[in-house]
Amino acid sequence: ALPAQFSLPLKFPPVLRPTRTDGTTDYYTVTAREANLTILPGMSTRVFSYEGSFPGPTIEARSGRRVVVTTTNQLPVPTVTHLHGGHTPAESDGYATDLILPVGGWPVAPAHRGHSGHGAVMAGAVTQGTRDYVYPNQQRAATLWYHDHRMDFTGPQVWRGLAGFYIVRDGVDDALPLPDGDRELPLMIMDRSFDANGQFTYPSADPTLHQPGLTVNPNGVQGDVILVNGVPWPFHEVKQAKYRLRLLNASNARRYRVSLSPDPSGGGEPFTQIGSDGGLLAAPQPMSSIYMVPGERFDVIVDFSKYAAGTKVVMTNSLGDGSTKQVMQFRVTGPASDSSQIPAQLSTVERLDPARAVRTRTFNLLSTRRDGKEVHVINDRMFSTDHIMADPRLGTIEIWEFRSSTHHPVHVHLNPFQVIGRGGGLEPEDAGWKDTVRLTPNNTVRVVMRFDDYAGKYMLHCHNLEHEDMAMMANFQVS
Ligand code: C2O
Ligand code: CU
Repeated sequence: ALPAQFSLPLKFPPVLRPTRTDGTTDYYTVTAREANLTILPGMSTRVFSYEGSFPGPTIEARSGRRVVVTTTNQLPVPTVTHLHGGHTPAESDGYATDLILPVGGWPVAPAHRGHSGHGAVMAGAVTQGTRDYVYPNQQRAATLWYHDHRMDFTGPQVWRGLAGFYIVRDGVDDALPLPDGDRELPLMIMDRSFDANGQFTYPSADPTLHQPGLTVNPNGVQGDVILVNGVPWPFHEVKQAKYRLRLLNASNARRYRVSLSPDPSGGGEPFTQIGSDGGLLAAPQPMSSIYMVPGERFDVIVDFSKYAAGTKVVMTNSLGDGSTKQVMQFRVTGPASDSSQIPAQLSTVERLDPARAVRTRTFNLLSTRRDGKEVHVINDRMFSTDHIMADPRLGTIEIWEFRSSTHHPVHVHLNPFQVIGRGGGLEPEDAGWKDTVRLTPNNTVRVVMRFDDYAGKYMLHCHNLEHEDMAMMANFQVS
């Protein structure tokens, strides 16, 4: 049975230890494998895990210091890992067909292996059993996350558990007097549903099949249980002090508008956003709620010192209904010394100048029905590995304009961007460096980005994972 809301303590995924380090690099090994874990009290849930953990273990990286993750696939299905928010060379970016086949073998050749026509090194670099991912971490401190990106099966495989935090730290962030240690809380928010035996339910084809299932709801797959770090509607005890919450919406398709409601009354209590997908904002911004689409991260400071000991502060979701209206609860226990502060200036955010853009490209994300079938297309195309939709030049700045018929969280690999235009005006959630941006019905969003450092073929796509699996993806090739 489902636990009562706020009856289980929050947990944190373990921080992964490197197996070896040298002057430039931290080396990790990660095994993706099935595991039986207790998510619902008294029941065991079969998950797809990294290192037996759900969420996967957290990787702590230093800006400028290389990380190599040797990943072994002991799952019964192929997998490929993408570091979301990583500024990563193409061969380690987790292109959807760069599969790691199961150690135990895979009976049939994968459906989508490199028919790219752009050279053997590009797409479909399939490996048997294991692969090294190399992350240079030449990027600012930020909350990143890693997850499965298998062609056509990302939705079911992430749903089964293949996601973890990857936190990049740097001297700028470290030098600020922000809350840290056990007052820094990574919170991975996702929805799931369970059957009577405590197993995850997913209304699509079995991911061990070789053909994708197309039977999901047009809005994507949503569950009725909210998990934070893998715990259903947890509670967490906090002191009367400031806390830094690294919020991640790791849901397949669910959007949230989270706010803080102290019992017994109230709602929309103020808090402060300090960071976005791409790390610290230039200056803190006060918020009373945050609208989070799948893939987005928000770094916020909550000051619990304004609440009396014994106060319970619920994180609510005004976009939910019934059981999904609540996310988790903070229980304010009592006083504590707190020397943390929120500086008025957090970091320097270089402004990309749209006037320097060498071109503007338009991407039209359309969800419709054709011949009785639901289709999700970008510029009227379903994804294919061999079609390049955009060919930016290394070192140049471009404006990308996303037009949308309905809700689509769009994510661009490789480079962060800045949101410069939105029909109806920019939203607070558009601030700072972003890699995922929310598109709303019949609207247009313009972003500016620079193609730095790495050439190669990369993906952009809808981060509603069911839309992604229904081929709402495109390639861009940087050269
Ligand atoms: Cu978080 Cu291409 O994905
Ligand atoms: Cu979408």
